[in-house]
Amino acid sequence: MTGKDPKLKISGDTRKKSDQLKKIISKPPYINSTIRISGDKSISHRAAILNAMAEGTAEVKNFCVGDDQESIIRCLKSLGTKITHTIDYQDNHPIHSFTIIGNGKNGFKEPKSPLDCGNSGTCMRLISGLLAGQKFNTLVIGDDSLSKRPMNRIANPLKLMGANIRPLNNLSKDEIRAPFEIKGSNLNNINYKSPVSSAQVKSCILIAGAYADGVTTITEPSKSRDHTERMMKAMGAKIEITDKKISIENSILKAQNVMIPGDISSAAFWIILAACHKNAELFIPNIGLNPTRTGILEVLTKMGARINISNQKTELGEPRGDLTVKSSNLTGINIEGSIIPKIIDEIPILSLAACYASGETVIKDAQELRVKESDRIKATVQGLFKLGADISETKDGMIIKNSPNLQGSEVNSYGDHRIAMMLGISGLLTEGQTTITNAEAANISYPNFWDQIDNF
Ligand code: S3P
Repeated sequence: MTGKDPKLKISGDTRKKSDQLKKIISKPPYINSTIRISGDKSISHRAAILNAMAEGTAEVKNFCVGDDQESIIRCLKSLGTKITHTIDYQDNHPIHSFTIIGNGKNGFKEPKSPLDCGNSGTCMRLISGLLAGQKFNTLVIGDDSLSKRPMNRIANPLKLMGANIRPLNNLSKDEIRAPFEIKGSNLNNINYKSPVSSAQVKSCILIAGAYADGVTTITEPSKSRDHTERMMKAMGAKIEITDKKISIENSILKAQNVMIPGDISSAAFWIILAACHKNAELFIPNIGLNPTRTGILEVLTKMGARINISNQKTELGEPRGDLTVKSSNLTGINIEGSIIPKIIDEIPILSLAACYASGETVIKDAQELRVKESDRIKATVQGLFKLGADISETKDGMIIKNSPNLQGSEVNSYGDHRIAMMLGISGLLTEGQTTITNAEAANISYPNFWDQIDNF
């Protein structure tokens, strides 16, 4: 990692390091089963942070499972939040719940060691909004991948609000990446036009806005996922939501029990497996259907996927339902513009679907993929090319031509969970054996992914 202060190596680092895992996958002749998915990662992060800021106690059920979940819980506990964990079982599927005793927004304590956000950009960016409003200083650190990701996108607006953010590596003071220090202060309001459509940036500003004097407004170029504003509203925040423009006033939040729906970004792997396999039907119950996240269903339906949604309902402001997906004949399309923020995490697996679609699929306006857990444009193109795909990289996306005869080979996740899982699903579709190295990366968001794959 570039220029990290060696003093910042935390002694007694409690972060578990997963052992390296190599997975060998082959195509099953048919697929017919039910896949249960753990709680949505984005909603879990909001439920944890906002309830920690709130007054009262909340039970958050069906929390996401994975290393990112551990990061957010670890950080909130370091800030003095009392959190307990229970596990129940439904049809042998573990349901994780956390009881969070709210600190009230000014009840956090200065952490004794740096706040370690692990691999989680959502954890680092959202918690920075909270730290900006505290009366103490905090050192914020992350793993090697997170330490390379851009943090100016949150540091710039937080500085405008009055926070003092200082890099702790050898970068110039205007280029912020982890590790950095946040000196909290009394925040002022801003009217911020974000240059990127990023729910992490929006959420960071809204959380800081709950501490600021006056009305803080953020406007995005295209609407990103809106879980933060939905949850803050349900918790009593003074917030106004008009499409791409959200305004919040200094607010006190009330604890809110949450039942988190299954993660549509995790479900996307199975949806695409069923759509691309010649002999498949999958049932995926209780999946979040927030319209800022269902871009994947819109795109796949346009491509000709046979997806049925049943049992739809809305609980605590978040829609959900059951999905049934069958083998489909897909057609390539152009994917660009305002849909991109709504499918940003699903583009690697969509690129695999594009290999099985007739004609050509062109993905544009997706340059944000280059600053995710890996450069996901490069990692996707390299992985699928190695399997025989007709795929090429562009500045802001990819061009993928129909390549239905993919052949197993050895491919690497580059330590990125969504790339590891995309390659795992490739293994269930290609002829011959596919070997995925650094497959352990899936633990970031989906620790039982490989167990579910082994069941086919
Ligand atoms: C997330 C927002 C997205 C997404 C990430 C989770 C969130 O990032 O890629 O996995 O929970 O807010 P950006 O908001 O930076 O695009």
